[in-house]
Amino acid sequence: MNPGYALFGLPNGNGMGFVERGVRVTVIEMEGGCPLHGEIVLQGSKNAVLPMIAASILCTGVTVIHNCPVIDDVKCMMKLLRKLGCRTELTGHTLSIDTTDIIQETLEENAVKEVRASVLFMGSLLGRTGSAGLCFPGGCSIGKRPINYHLDAFEKMGIDINIMDEQINCKTAKLCGAKITLDFPSVGATENIILAAVLAKGVTQIKNTAREPEIVDFCRFLRNMGARIYGAGTKNIVIYGVKKLHPIEYTVCDDRIAMATYGLLIAGTGGNLVLHTKERQTENDIRILACTGCRLCVKNTALIIKQKKRVRPVDFIKTSPYPGFPTDVQSLLMTVLTKADGKSILEENIFENRYHTVSELIKLGANIKVKGNRVTIYGVGELRGKNIRANDLRGGAALVIAGLMAEGQTKLEHAKYIARGYEDMTDKLQNIGAKIKSGSE
Ligand code: EPZ
Repeated sequence: MNPGYALFGLPNGNGMGFVERGVRVTVIEMEGGCPLHGEIVLQGSKNAVLPMIAASILCTGVTVIHNCPVIDDVKCMMKLLRKLGCRTELTGHTLSIDTTDIIQETLEENAVKEVRASVLFMGSLLGRTGSAGLCFPGGCSIGKRPINYHLDAFEKMGIDINIMDEQINCKTAKLCGAKITLDFPSVGATENIILAAVLAKGVTQIKNTAREPEIVDFCRFLRNMGARIYGAGTKNIVIYGVKKLHPIEYTVCDDRIAMATYGLLIAGTGGNLVLHTKERQTENDIRILACTGCRLCVKNTALIIKQKKRVRPVDFIKTSPYPGFPTDVQSLLMTVLTKADGKSILEENIFENRYHTVSELIKLGANIKVKGNRVTIYGVGELRGKNIRANDLRGGAALVIAGLMAEGQTKLEHAKYIARGYEDMTDKLQNIGAKIKSGSE
């Protein structure tokens, strides 16, 4: 029975596992302890392309997105688009989305539960159809990740929200602009409100918005579609609703978290890496790597990272909303600091449960103490390979770095999370000399 609104569940953050050469990869085996040398082409940004995919249903026609990363989260969002009646095609790094056909309003719950960004279809469905329905998202391993900021904002925009059991049903006869102040600069809430506001009647002013570069790229994408958005990248964004948007062709920005991942890998294993990017990396993003003592230089759009010395410890770093230190890099930096020449302290302030990597690093010989939302890392001379287990996307990538920093063999289980956000990681690392291979459990 079609309840007259889009009905879909929300993700609980479980990855679905990636397939390499036909094999569903859930295990990665490594032999670490050697410096790495070579070149990597940086992928397009996962956290910029996912809201763009949700936004594509705001207009009718064919949207083309270049530099699209070939990752599980993108494939999940494509599956959801097809369930909505769209046609999708990913050829190389170019994603085409044809939204000509009428929106099918019911999404299969399991397909949606595999990607957190599916929550963004709520804003774009409301913008396009005036209705959306979904179940409360389960928490995931890094935290509860509620959507109260999203729902509070939608109510202010004239959306009737009623909740029955686990179902949140949204409906509105007229989507209106509103004045909204976010309690916290939530990335997803900022994006969801913008998605609902671009076709709403009147003006929407959002205060205390997220300022991540992915939000800036997303708003540029929407402006190219004909949206009227001002202030992206600042704490205040104003959207003047328009009647119609049109499909576009667009190139997504680079993935700054993947850049930090590969840069910190070299900081941890030693060696040198040429990271080819589409655009010049910002000081803010490069600074993340400099704190480990590695040498960095920018040549046109390539970033060169060299590490010959032991990792330098950091006195104190805390994660905070952009332009602060990114929470997505916390477990990656923590891993590298396990072999630093001294004591380091990190503090996690975005998610309440983002220290799963600690127990796995201790199995490899790291010396880490957790107290509340702070970890103290006492650098050791050596890590030794063991069997360890990934628990989430960035933690999994951090444990690959750990396995390549450790002497001997490391087997990483539950590696399926990694492909949610990293394109062909094991191939890329093999190409710079890492002894690493992927397989199934
Ligand atoms: C986005 O998640 C990113 N995901 C995350 O990247 C990133 O870690 C996070 O922003 C913070 O930068 C994508 O862009 C797809 P939030 P999001 O809303 O939007 C609380 C990765 O590894 N909150 O900024 O879900 C929430 O619980 C992923 O690529 C509420 O309380 O993050 C969290 O503690 C992981 N109520 C904090 O705010 C709400 O309504 C930040 O969440 C919304 C959020």
